[in-house]
Amino acid sequence: MKSKVTQSFLHHFEAEPLVVFAPGRINLIGEHTDYQEGFVFPAAIAHGIYVAIAKNNLNFCRVYALDFDQEFTFELGGMSPKKGHWASYVMGMCTLLNQAGYPLRNFDLVLGGDIPIGSGLSSSAALSVAVGLAIAKLFSFPIAKKNLALYSQKAEQLFAGVNCGIMDPYASLFGVENHAMLLDCRSVTHQEVKIPLNEYRFLLVNSKVSHALASSAYNQRRAACEESVDILQKFFPEIRTLRDLKVGDLSRVQQLLPKSLFPKAKHVITECGRVHQAAKALQNENLLEVGNLLKASHESLRDDFEVSCPEIDFLAIQAGSTKGVLGARMMGGGFGGCLLTLVKDAEVSSFKTSIKEGYLNKFKLMPDFIEVAVGAGARQV
Ligand code: GLA
Repeated sequence: MKSKVTQSFLHHFEAEPLVVFAPGRINLIGEHTDYQEGFVFPAAIAHGIYVAIAKNNLNFCRVYALDFDQEFTFELGGMSPKKGHWASYVMGMCTLLNQAGYPLRNFDLVLGGDIPIGSGLSSSAALSVAVGLAIAKLFSFPIAKKNLALYSQKAEQLFAGVNCGIMDPYASLFGVENHAMLLDCRSVTHQEVKIPLNEYRFLLVNSKVSHALASSAYNQRRAACEESVDILQKFFPEIRTLRDLKVGDLSRVQQLLPKSLFPKAKHVITECGRVHQAAKALQNENLLEVGNLLKASHESLRDDFEVSCPEIDFLAIQAGSTKGVLGARMMGGGFGGCLLTLVKDAEVSSFKTSIKEGYLNKFKLMPDFIEVAVGAGARQV
């Protein structure tokens, strides 16, 4: 992919570019907790976005997206990023860096990647991280990785309309090979935890569905959590977010919240607990326990937080009853995307066959299987 992006750059533009790579991510556990300053447990993967960049002597920037075969030009002084267009991530990062006082000059840029779009592997976070890092390298801006993650989060909020948390760009920037990150989304710091999978692996099943309501439902869930916090603060004045509550507080929380809000708050509170348990289980190489936590997380996301969908639930049930599978759960924001499974190596091929058959029969859709290698974070390549 690197050489494809470089070749394309040389074909479209004149100069020799510098190239950066920013990975997508998986999340082992800890879903819909990041925007409540909770805990998440992501890892960067070997799939990602490549960006080739060089300065130009023009009065405008030129960007070319290899995957869409589209070129786009814009002036740094007159950018108008619009929601939903790939070039908005480029202009969005430029706008945010400009506002932060970095003196951008004109450049040419080519981007391309190998993350299946809509699979929930954070292609958009990888894109803004790659663009931000490429610009920082090109102009020697000393931008700390944590700040780059915050700019990328902001770009996603402003230009994709998703009121997302910090997890995706953070994982893309801080990933380490064969390690997951136990990320505290309040302090925005993490602890690396080795992933000892032995004769097991994480395998993704791409449902190939991405429901249209996803971003508005995501924003509604976040708003519901904030509403719960507003109510609960009157009785727990010390709390800032749901992250400050413990499983032991649940019965009191249930008395205080309306019926519609309690299950959502319960999910966030119990999920934060599961993140710590999963990190401990991984450190103890107790994969059976990790698998059980994946199942519990899925049930909570499905029944309490209500962000799953029939296709993913079907896949989760199928996976759960297949030999060699220790656990499975929906991954990412929800309403489609991928199921994360923990499967025994020796059973992978029979697992694939039975999942394919069942899913095809039920939904007339062929699922994809994505083998993920846990890789390093964003870097010049
Ligand atoms: C999306 C968001 C993240 C996070 C997850 C759910 O991936 O971008 O910030 O909230 O959903 O855990």
